[in-house]
Amino acid sequence: MARYHVCEEDDVPIGKVKAYKAGGRTVAIFHLDDGFYSTQNDCSHLFAPLHKGTIIDGSQIECPYHQTRFDIRTGAVMCWADHPLLDWIRAKKALKTYPVTVEAGQVFVEL
Ligand code: FES
Repeated sequence: MARYHVCEEDDVPIGKVKAYKAGGRTVAIFHLDDGFYSTQNDCSHLFAPLHKGTIIDGSQIECPYHQTRFDIRTGAVMCWADHPLLDWIRAKKALKTYPVTVEAGQVFVEL
């Protein structure tokens, strides 16, 4: 695992998500009430950019394409897209999550 600097703490206000490049991937950095979290940025359904989604109930991200919802802290699927044909193509799959640390106002992610 390697550690990457992604942004400053103030770059992502509480209740928001932004995407950053780290280690050749794009990760989503979420700032929730209790701190920062990171997941893969591409939706595990059909790869939509999750940073363009909506944070629901302060702890879930809803994908902008087919409204699959994931727990931001664990990556678990809370509500899978309701498209029977697409379900046949893409089975339910959790998001990868990555440890985030904040030091002196700088945000780091481990991949
Ligand atoms: S691409 Fe995210 S729900 Fe389909």
